[in-house]
Amino acid sequence: ATVPVISIDGPTASGKGTLAAEVARQLGYHYLDSGALYRVTGLAARRAGLEPNESNETEIARIALHLPLEFIRGQVLLDGEDVGDDIRTEAAGMDASRVSALPAVRAALVDLQKRFRRLPGLVADGRDMGTVIFPDAPLKVFLTASAAHRAERRYKQLISKGISVTLDSLRLDLEARDARDMNRSTAPLKPAEDAKLLDNSEQSVVQSVDQVLQWWHQAQ
Ligand code: C5P
Repeated sequence: ATVPVISIDGPTASGKGTLAAEVARQLGYHYLDSGALYRVTGLAARRAGLEPNESNETEIARIALHLPLEFIRGQVLLDGEDVGDDIRTEAAGMDASRVSALPAVRAALVDLQKRFRRLPGLVADGRDMGTVIFPDAPLKVFLTASAAHRAERRYKQLISKGISVTLDSLRLDLEARDARDMNRSTAPLKPAEDAKLLDNSEQSVVQSVDQVLQWWHQAQ
């Protein structure tokens, strides 16, 4: 039997991570945060002294293919070091977006992502989960929220962590990242043809979770 997958794709700060992790928890499924793989790749590239750009594509892809990465109890370990905080900065998000536009890097991470598909099931969040990595997922969700709502949420998250940012700079960053993710030639951010669209601008997390679970029960 094939292992069930729910894919949740969408733009930056749309709340995919929160939604996907909670749906996974309620169903008792595994959870793949595919953005973390690109973030760790960007960080590992920086640490190797490589700018995240085309001239370093081959070397960064080699790094991605051999990432000494472990996910243990919600921690992200790179070579045994907890890099959870380092990969969550806005700069790391930008670097992730840059390395993720390199086709060789995307190709290098395909098998790793597919290996997360294990019984009893998987909830995977990212940009191309439904379009490229798990095109046979029985439920595909494309999550959106207005840029204003997304910037506002990210702002609150960062301020609560004591990180100083302005709403305007965040919104500009977010729009730059969205534009790059939507316009790249390999695996651009777009809804799968059979994706369910969910706009959570005016929804609570509980409401979005319930909607996804309801779709999932209907798909059974
Ligand atoms: O989702 P998150 O913000 O952690 O992702 C960081 C970056 O990684 C995104 O801006 C996007 O460019 C890239 N990404 C991707 N494909 C995925 C997940 C993330 O290209 N499946």
